[in-house]
This record gives sequence, C-alpha cells and structure tokens, in this order.
Amino acid sequence: MSARPSVGWIGTGRMGYEMAARLAKGGAGVLAWNRTRAKAEPLAKYGARIAERLPELASCDIVFCMVAAWKDVKQVMGALLEGKRQPRMVIECSSISLEGSAELRQLLAARGIDYLAAPVSGNAKVIKAGKLSFACSGPRQSFDEALPLLKMIAPAASYVGEGELARIVKICHNVFLGVVIQSLAEITVLAQKAGVPRHAFLEFLNQSVMGSMFTRYKTPAFVNLDFKVTFTPELLRKDMDLGLDAGRRLEVPMPLASAARDLVQAMMGRGMKEEDFAALLLQQAQASGIALQPENVEVKDGLS
Ligand SMILES: NC(=O)c1ccc[n+]([C@@H]2O[C@H](COP(=O)([O-])OP(=O)(O)OC[C@H]3O[C@@H](n4cnc5c(N)ncnc54)[C@H](OP(=O)(O)O)[C@@H]3O)[C@@H](O)[C@H]2O)c1
Repeated sequence: MSARPSVGWIGTGRMGYEMAARLAKGGAGVLAWNRTRAKAEPLAKYGARIAERLPELASCDIVFCMVAAWKDVKQVMGALLEGKRQPRMVIECSSISLEGSAELRQLLAARGIDYLAAPVSGNAKVIKAGKLSFACSGPRQSFDEALPLLKMIAPAASYVGEGELARIVKICHNVFLGVVIQSLAEITVLAQKAGVPRHAFLEFLNQSVMGSMFTRYKTPAFVNLDFKVTFTPELLRKDMDLGLDAGRRLEVPMPLASAARDLVQAMMGRGMKEEDFAALLLQQAQASGIALQPENVEVKDGLS
C-alpha cells in the first residue's frame, strides 16, 4: 500500500460526518459521498472533496462506510462496485449483523478487495473529543494497514480476531448500552421520587465505582432534559434485536436485554422516535407517576 492511500467515505450522518472530519483534518485526502449531499458539504472546509456520485469513490485506495443497517450497506456497496474500478480495501463501520458482514466479505473477496469490519463505540461528541474506539476483525494484515487511518479517527482500535468477530463485540456492547441506559433511568427516577435532585444523585454515581464515561456524558441530558438526538431509539432497537437474535441462535438467555428492548419499543410506540434514546428517562418517570422538570444546573459531561 502506498504511504498515503486515498480515502473514500460513504455516509456522513451523525457519526460518519465527525469520523470523516477527523480524517480530513488529519490530512488524509478524503473523497466523501452522502445520499443527502448537503450533509457532506461542510467537510469541504477541512479539505475533503465531495463526490457527486457514489461510484466515483471506487477509484480510492480505501473506502470507509458508515450508514445504518445491513440493507443500507448492501445498497451502497452495490453502487460503489457498479463500474470497472474498485478500491483495494473496504472498512465497514456501521453496526450490522454478523450475517450481513459475512455476505459483504464474500462479495468483496470475490473481487479481490480486502475487508475490515470496524464498528465503533461512542457518539458524535465522543468522536469530537477524540475518545472513540474501534473493534476490528478480518485479516490481521488489513488491520495493520488500516491502523494509521483508524488512529486518525480514534485513539483506540482493538483487533478482536478473524472474520466477523468485531460484529458480535459491537452487538454485545450495544445490548449493554440498552440495559445500562434503562437501569440508569430507573434508579435516577427512584432517587428523585425519594427526594434527591437528579444532579446530586448523578454527581455521586459518576464519582463512584459504578460511574463511567457513559454515565458521565449522559448526565447533562438527564439533569436538564435535553434529548437532542445522538443515537435514535430505532438504531438502538436494531442493535438490541441483533443481540437477541444472536442469543437465540447461540442458546444464550438474555432476560435483561429482552426487557430493555421492549422498553425501547414502547418508547417508539408512544411516538418518541426523534428524541435521543436517553429519553427512556421520561418514559420511566411517566410510569412512576412523576413529571420531570429541567433542573437547569450546569453539569460536566466528562468529554470537554
Ligand atoms: N449515533 C451513535 O451514537 C452511534 C454510535 C455507534 C455506532 N452507531 C452506528 O453507526 C451507524 C450510523 O449511525 P448515525 O447515528 O450516524 O445515523 P444517522 O445520523 O441516521 O446517519 C445515517 C447515515 O447513513 C446514510 N444512509 C442510511 N441509509 C442509507 C441508504 N440506504 N443509502 C445511502 N445512505 C444511507 C444516511 O444518509 P442520509 O443523510 O441521506 O439520510 C446517513 O448518512 C449506525 O449503524 C449506528 O447503529 C451509532
């Protein structure tokens, strides 16, 4: 591989935009494409070029993909490879199923294209703060080749093994995310109904052994009820369903994940689709017979 591979980027949604921005700011030559072009255009200020058509990216050495579900990945990969040109490597970062990832590997292998499965942990703000992490699987050599680019996007990139293993790592991670956010909502409402302000409760929790980067960065939303979306309930339901499906196939009971999945479903059934998944807090408060008010207290998210 040349010292400075050219990079194509498919998908500049909440995550893809910030990831591509880090690459472009870091000096990688990025050619970006997004279905809704306007969302890719601001990348130009960091030196990225914006493609009119997706197949233009086929002439890049390495193409990253960050869209939504497997059906979307399949669609964009079909369009990428419709012409004669093809990239040397595809790095697919969306949270998709093991089966989808395996199908993609076959499709790319048939054309001699290297493939790294590279889903991520962290939201757009985490990317900006330089705290994203990758779980990667595929040939070790592909990981080693991709590492300089991955490191421009995120300080942590773990190689977890061959094939699609990174997919199950990410699915497990997001099942945990769903269970943890629901649990955090339950205990925060419990503490509040008993009389403890949310900011005081969460300040304690965040400094305790149970506090984490996640509980800290969700604290401003819980305290001041700002549920501007970082991750949609629909995408979380997708990941919980992928986890429960894997549990069924591997005969692993997941009672907590099942309950949390249905609470995300209930939130969507109530029409709470455009809010952040952390709005599970509001559903929990409603079920507990209390109306939450913003506390208007300045709290740190641990990221800035
Ligand atoms: N948000 C998070 O905190 C987070 C964290 C880790 C992983 N993830 C995963 O990262 C992926 C992206 O999440 P996100 O939050 O960035 O979602 P998002 O803001 O909804 O962005 C989705 C992106 O995919 C594109 N897209 C979707 N379907 C497409 C299709 N059929 N053809 C072409 N483009 C398509 C969208 O294009 P348009 O702009 O035209 O709609 C947009 O660029 C998902 O797999 C998600 O599960 C998210």
